[in-house]
Amino acid sequence: MSRRISVINLKGGTGKSSLSMNLAHLLALRGYSVVLIDCDMQGNSSSLLPRWEPPTLTHFLRGEVPFSAIIRLARDRLAIIPSDRDLNTAATYIASRRHAYYTLRDAVQQLRCGFVIFDHAPSYSPVTEAALLASSEILIPCELAPFAVQALFTCSGNWKILFRITDSSIVGLCRLTSTTATS
Ligand SMILES: Nc1ncnc2c1ncn2[C@@H]1O[C@H](COP(=O)(O)OP(=O)(O)OP(=O)(O)O)[C@@H](O)[C@H]1O
Ligand SMILES: [Mg+2]
Repeated sequence: MSRRISVINLKGGTGKSSLSMNLAHLLALRGYSVVLIDCDMQGNSSSLLPRWEPPTLTHFLRGEVPFSAIIRLARDRLAIIPSDRDLNTAATYIASRRHAYYTLRDAVQQLRCGFVIFDHAPSYSPVTEAALLASSEILIPCELAPFAVQALFTCSGNWKILFRITDSSIVGLCRLTSTTATS
């Protein structure tokens, strides 16, 4: 089965998308087949695709299209699942249907690839939970500054419940270098 890595931090601007995109690109260059899933309506990872058109992760999570319809090849060995600005409607859909939390996990487990990377949004929603449930490992880019570390403890408290369900593990904490002075 693939390694399924959530790149997550509920704090914004910590380098999630940069790390997700660079990691996916590097792994593809190293010969692994990679699927990068954009779980953020900002769509930064989706920008690796030349065109941004439906269907997207939103349509899959709302149960409108099969998983195969949303996987796009960006370059050799690197596929992208794009998001869109309606991703919050998928969150509403999932929140009212318990089984919908697991459709992404079930689909991802069928993928034949080396790595699946989830680029998370800087917020917690049912889409975040669905992607965490689909993940086997978690990678957290974090600035080593007081508020950033505090946010890390706050959100990892939320994740503990999910860890028990998914047996996810934290594979790493990546330091984000900062030019901001902190006390
Ligand atoms: N390792 C790094 N060191 C310093 N700056 C970085 C690093 N990685 C990313 N950045 C810069 O930090 C900013 C935010 O990066 P990025 O958009 O990847 O963060 P993000 O966590 O995905 O943001 P969001 O929470 O809005 O999704 C960008 O200007 C990016 O160039
Ligand atoms: Mg981002």
